[in-house]
Amino acid sequence: MINNLKERFPVFKKNPNLIFFDTAASALKVDSMINAVNECYSYEYANIHRGIYELSSKLTKRYEDSRSSVSKFINSPSSKNIIFTKSATEGINLVSSCLSENYFQDGDEVLVSALEHHANLVPWHLVSKKIKIISGNINKDGELDYADLIEKINSKTKLVAITHMSNVTGSITNIEKITKKTKNLNIPLLIDGCQYVPHKKLNIKDLDPDFYVFSAHKLYGPTGLGILYMKDYWIDKLGPYQGGGSMIKNVETDSSTYLDGFYKFEAGTPPIAEVIGLSASLDFINEVGIDNIYSYENELTKYAYEQLQKNNDIKLYGDFNNQTSIISFNIDGLHFNDLAMFLDKKNIAVRTGHHCAQPFMKHFNIEGNARMSVGIYNTKYDVDFFVNSINEIKNILKP
Ligand code: ALA
Repeated sequence: MINNLKERFPVFKKNPNLIFFDTAASALKVDSMINAVNECYSYEYANIHRGIYELSSKLTKRYEDSRSSVSKFINSPSSKNIIFTKSATEGINLVSSCLSENYFQDGDEVLVSALEHHANLVPWHLVSKKIKIISGNINKDGELDYADLIEKINSKTKLVAITHMSNVTGSITNIEKITKKTKNLNIPLLIDGCQYVPHKKLNIKDLDPDFYVFSAHKLYGPTGLGILYMKDYWIDKLGPYQGGGSMIKNVETDSSTYLDGFYKFEAGTPPIAEVIGLSASLDFINEVGIDNIYSYENELTKYAYEQLQKNNDIKLYGDFNNQTSIISFNIDGLHFNDLAMFLDKKNIAVRTGHHCAQPFMKHFNIEGNARMSVGIYNTKYDVDFFVNSINEIKNILKP
């Protein structure tokens, strides 16, 4: 169903032998997104939400239409629940800062897990004078320990902040298992969906979180743009986060009042071209079909996993039955950075290190590991070349 999408990614024209297995860090860029950003800057550009003239009003409409495209893409109840930020990281910082200002009381607990990316840990550390951070454990396979996490939810828990898909293992969190308890106790839920959204259909209405963040650059879209879904209740209750133009009703030299709704959270000139670019990358994903993307990538990852599993000197992290798109591993007696350098000589890109998830590495008492992650441009040939290259390096360095 997915047939050589490499031709839609200009980087392969310049570097046809590139085998890019670092999509979890950032996806390569699709031609239609690059063209949309180029057209926007070349022919359509003006500031938005401020000008009466045609160029500005047309681009304002395109920008707000893009908000609707994002809303449809995740099946949000309304585009009014979509807030654009500069990154998913900023989205979580926005929520932690606003909750600290308007919601948390001294001694409240925020429950996270040891599977989190630093972006869903450090923003909570920054407000930890007020709150206590409790962490759910991971098990020996590197999966979330649900029994432990659920046991740690109690009347002092004022937020559960959890990843939807681990950036280390690709494991998908069973959110329903958690919400069975949080809904009963009326505890809000924040989900970090950076890794999930590019690979699997997100249905916000079904999942019903209070906050959900993801980033454009992992969706074959531009950098510098994050998406924060926020429920109406919190949009009304929280904020503002930053002050400046675009978010005000009335300003005096010594005081101001703020707009309602998402505007309250979007101070300053927004990432206009990036939002237009994101809309083009979502059109591309919709053309291919997110369900097709999931089955294609899942099959490819499974194929790679099965090849790697045949080697008993390769330690794989996570339980494949629960994973997609990402495989992280270590090879006995071989440093992950030596492996990455060797792979780079073969024009294969993988990420190595702690992947911004040091608690995960500490759990396994390792400094880091190697991570291969797939995107829609990868093929079975890429996987075979990758596996053969790993065998080659093992023969050279571990004869
Ligand atoms: N969050 C990105 C990664 O996992 C940068 O590599």
